[in-house]
Amino acid sequence: MTIMEAIRNRRSIRTFKAGAKVSDSQIKVLLEAAMLAPSACNSRPWEFVVIKDRNILEQIRKAHPYTGMLKTASLAIVIIALPEIQEKVSGGLPKGFYPQDCGAATENILLAAMEMGLGTCWCGVYPHSRMIAKIQKILATDKLPFNIIAIGVPDESPAARGMYEEEKVTWI
Ligand SMILES: Cc1cc2nc3c(=O)[nH]c(=O)nc-3n(C[C@H](O)[C@H](O)[C@H](O)COP(=O)(O)O)c2cc1C
Repeated sequence: MTIMEAIRNRRSIRTFKAGAKVSDSQIKVLLEAAMLAPSACNSRPWEFVVIKDRNILEQIRKAHPYTGMLKTASLAIVIIALPEIQEKVSGGLPKGFYPQDCGAATENILLAAMEMGLGTCWCGVYPHSRMIAKIQKILATDKLPFNIIAIGVPDESPAARGMYEEEKVTWI
């Protein structure tokens, strides 16, 4: 699969094959993809929590109203943002760029998963403070949860969107 094929065919998957196994070596490839994303001054303001524990997946599903797909997902990766790192690196030059960096890491996971025949759904947490607090409580951390990426073997095949909107483009 080429990168453009992955980009063109990626869709959010909200029904997965329940009980399907995703191996740790597959998960590590997804994490490697995330860690290879560009970041401001190469500050890499991220950490990752891999959740395979069904009890914790259920707690998140109940706490976050738009994570129903966790019921059938094989796992979730929570991206943790580290804003404070960016205040220390390169004299604070990358300060404040962490949402962009974590977004790039997220998209790398989504596209790498496509190549592996896995489906994903990006579920937002940051910047909603109530949602952040709920996820912090479940994960017993005071670090900043950026999002939750549901991952599994797709049990649905939504059509590629095939979207190109010329009116969104200014050619100069
Ligand atoms: C920042 C962000 C937050 C999102 N949060 C959720 C979410 O909480 N639950 C969900 O089911 N989908 C979520 N999505 C997925 C979007 O709904 C989805 O990407 C969009 O509708 C386009 O559909 P597609 O991903 O199939 O192309 C989120 C996507 C982004 C980028």
